[in-house]
Amino acid sequence: MSRAYDLVKADPNRVIIFDTTLRDGEQSPGCSMNLEEKLKMAVMLDELGVDVIEAGFPIASPGDFEAVSEIAKVVKNATICGLSRAKEADIEAAGQAIKAAESKRIHTFISTSPLHMKYKLKMGENSVIEAIHESVTFARKFTDDVEWSAEDGSRTEDDFLCQAVETAIAAGARVINIPDTVGYSVPEEYAAQIKMLMERVPNIDQAIISTHCHNDLGLAVANSLAGVQAGARQIECTINGIGERAGNAALEEVVMAIRTRADMLPYKNKIETTKITKTSRTLSGITGFNVQPNKAIVGANAFAHASGIHQDGMLKHAQTYEIMTPESVGLNESKLVMAKHSGRAAFRSKLSELGFELSDEALNDAFARFKNLADRKKEIFEDDLIALIEDEVVRKNEVLKFVSLQVQAGSKGPQMADLCLKVEGVEQSANVEGNGPVDAIFKAIRAIYAHEDASLKLYQVHAVTGGTDAQAEVTVRLEENGKSVNGQGADADTLVASARAYVNALNKLLIKRNSVNPQTEDTIDKAAI
Ligand code: KIV
Ligand code: ZN
Repeated sequence: MSRAYDLVKADPNRVIIFDTTLRDGEQSPGCSMNLEEKLKMAVMLDELGVDVIEAGFPIASPGDFEAVSEIAKVVKNATICGLSRAKEADIEAAGQAIKAAESKRIHTFISTSPLHMKYKLKMGENSVIEAIHESVTFARKFTDDVEWSAEDGSRTEDDFLCQAVETAIAAGARVINIPDTVGYSVPEEYAAQIKMLMERVPNIDQAIISTHCHNDLGLAVANSLAGVQAGARQIECTINGIGERAGNAALEEVVMAIRTRADMLPYKNKIETTKITKTSRTLSGITGFNVQPNKAIVGANAFAHASGIHQDGMLKHAQTYEIMTPESVGLNESKLVMAKHSGRAAFRSKLSELGFELSDEALNDAFARFKNLADRKKEIFEDDLIALIEDEVVRKNEVLKFVSLQVQAGSKGPQMADLCLKVEGVEQSANVEGNGPVDAIFKAIRAIYAHEDASLKLYQVHAVTGGTDAQAEVTVRLEENGKSVNGQGADADTLVASARAYVNALNKLLIKRNSVNPQTEDTIDKAAI
């Protein structure tokens, strides 16, 4: 059975929310996540109420396989989906990786547009039809819930698309996805294509149609909603709209448009919208991809009313300028939670309320860091605690450990960093001059642990909460041989946070797996299949 298909058949206005943050989102540059981060996001997505989590592309690397299998074990409600090309080895890997899930789906795809078939696949129409039949038939051996995608579907000729879709459904696909892979379509056109399939494919009632829109022209959400209005009943989307190039349709925008304009979009889903802000922020924290301040729904200014006229209107009646409440997306002030004199029991209970269950040893470490922070910062907010614990969890798995830092800074110069790190348990120090304190710190790290091939791509600082004693949260992105990782560090001292963030990124780089992009055939052939 396909849970999504059954849900839509039971209620024709039900729209399945298919989240691909951990696959299409994660495969985009700078968004890679390690196992722990993926598991954390998967649990949050499940709590958010998405129907399907596309957890990864299992054939891509042992790391991707492991992530999908672990997610399949821990997620309680959502269907877990693994991506595969139209190849037996891919489908087999996806089938094995999702095995433990309560509800599982294999998503298999092949290109159908003339351009892709000629230049990327080097296959003719008949061979593509055959591959669709074989791949879907094989995928059905692992699960009844098979999704088939026509890659570059929006640039595919109608007759051939109808034939391909009919073949996939006849072979057992219960979800037919029509990707606007290159973000080229416009809403009327995309809607017409979905309508055309609904009208012309004879067995279309045995499947539901899905949208998968990229945002190259900024139309991903509009196209997805137009697709639904034309009859599609699954939307593929990502948190914060991350994804290949300009990204995918943003989940938060799709869901809030449906909720806010129920008069025009009378569709149902089970997203708990009050969890949107937290999920968005967690993803930004993990990937280092902060959303633009004016981003719809989750941008820092999305609910800020700056102009006098707007503020005046808001005070008289909120609906003058507000079409959704901040509360509806879970946007509340970070709550004041603890201070210097708070005890260990209160600390443990607050962490548990925030969803962190630590072992006694981890709790002791975290409590010591909390006391240290509380000595330097009068008030500790929920967000401070989350930053502190997340930092703690990441630090547990480090090869390189931050020990201490002394910095000489200021206008007189020279700016020096005296840094001590533990490298595989052995303390090593460097005292290095730089062009400014941050440069000195990063040079000191390089002096202790050489990594010539890696280059610094991003250095970003932001305050976790307000005030001059706010904790600084620093993100560092390192890139090596086309692979990039983000490291985070939090501390009341910005320079210490910077050193921690760089060390964290370097640790991630050292364990970076050989992952590949499912849509780049030449890279995939080099994968250890
Ligand atoms: O954009 C796309 O076409 C994809 C497919 C793999 C579904 O991501
Ligand atoms: Zn895509």
